[in-house]
Amino acid sequence: MDSIGVAVIGTGFMGKCHAQAWNAVTAVFGTRPKPWLELLCDVDRDRAACLALDWNFARWTDDWHAVVSDPRVDAVSITTPNNLHRDIAVAALAAGKHVWCEKPMGVRLADAEAMAQAARDTERVTLLGYGYLQNPALQHAARLIRSGAIGRVIDFRGQVDEDYLADPQLPWSWRMRAEEAGLGTLGDITVHLISVARLLVGPIARLAAVTETVHRTRPLLAGGVAAVDTDDLAHAVLRFADGTSGMIGSSRVAHGRKSMIRIEVHGDKGMIVFDQERLNELQLYRAEGPKAERGFSTILTSPDHPPYGQFCPAPGHQLGFNDLKVIEAAHLLACIRGEETPCVDFAGGLDIERTVHTMAQSAREERWFTVPRDTTLAPVA
Ligand SMILES: NC(=O)c1ccc[n+]([C@@H]2O[C@H](COP(=O)([O-])OP(=O)(O)OC[C@H]3O[C@@H](n4cnc5c(N)ncnc54)[C@H](O)[C@@H]3O)[C@@H](O)[C@H]2O)c1
Repeated sequence: MDSIGVAVIGTGFMGKCHAQAWNAVTAVFGTRPKPWLELLCDVDRDRAACLALDWNFARWTDDWHAVVSDPRVDAVSITTPNNLHRDIAVAALAAGKHVWCEKPMGVRLADAEAMAQAARDTERVTLLGYGYLQNPALQHAARLIRSGAIGRVIDFRGQVDEDYLADPQLPWSWRMRAEEAGLGTLGDITVHLISVARLLVGPIARLAAVTETVHRTRPLLAGGVAAVDTDDLAHAVLRFADGTSGMIGSSRVAHGRKSMIRIEVHGDKGMIVFDQERLNELQLYRAEGPKAERGFSTILTSPDHPPYGQFCPAPGHQLGFNDLKVIEAAHLLACIRGEETPCVDFAGGLDIERTVHTMAQSAREERWFTVPRDTTLAPVA
């Protein structure tokens, strides 16, 4: 297969990110199939028409149904708000398209279950937009852990904090209503932290969580205030499936934090520390050598941390957030060629969704829960 017709649905923050990735992936990786940017879609006709030109798409539409039924489209990027992911993904898979969908999978757990079912029913590739996992630094951390560099993993600490809703005067929006958004910080950013925990340690088996809505009302643009019923904070203590313990915290109201995904993986012979705000660095501590000389070393990413070298032959020159999406696009194409397995497909994504929905339930009922591997939430006695 020499080329592949691609479409992007949604032209906001992540639509632009996917469009850049589709444009760049062949130049950076030199692999096939080469994406042919066939169709750009946005419900806003003017945006679709204007951005199709800027982003090198051959055609545009304002109707996503036209995308999934288009015979020249082989793969679809879904970068719309969460409440459209399920309908578009299920229709695209039924029409035989590969699907690259942004997280979270939907609004309700049932959305993720329906998407995972639809993926099981086809042989097409599904990939969720957990782009942070593509970071060469994090992939190196995973390799270090697997190679025993920090010994047996005994503890995982994770924190994902941003301040995009820290200002209480920010106006009310759909993200603050459970009916439309599903979860709050849990669906927005806790899912990313769980994807990292799964990469470095594995799936989470049991947890006890607390959540909180810090700003319970928000001003309406038209005047007055509206109630907020989605979570601003979500924290949990964890037991991973392999028995490792852990704790995670997340906040969308953490003043000063812009894109903090900070993890510590504690081993019985050392520790690894990473923070997405310094995404080209990894801290490694090994409990070996003279005690007076021990300390964390900083590893800067370089061509020794693939696929960094595809972007730049010089070490320490640093990749950025959008580059991780280019790596994700290359990964998707490798999955389509049958050479790689999706790092988070719809089945893996369902596990992440079940974990955050279990956190929400645990917080409501104030007790420990087992993360279900079937469709029901099963409380631990
Ligand atoms: N992986 C990440 O790091 C990351 C970061 C931000 C957002 N996201 C996810 O990406 C998705 C999009 O978020 P965003 O921040 O880009 O949102 P956004 O509001 O910037 O963009 C959404 C776009 O979808 C369009 N749209 C709305 N309804 C549509 C319809 N019926 N048909 C076609 N287009 C439609 C809007 O006009 C807009 O252009 C969300 O699911 C979000 O959770 C992921």
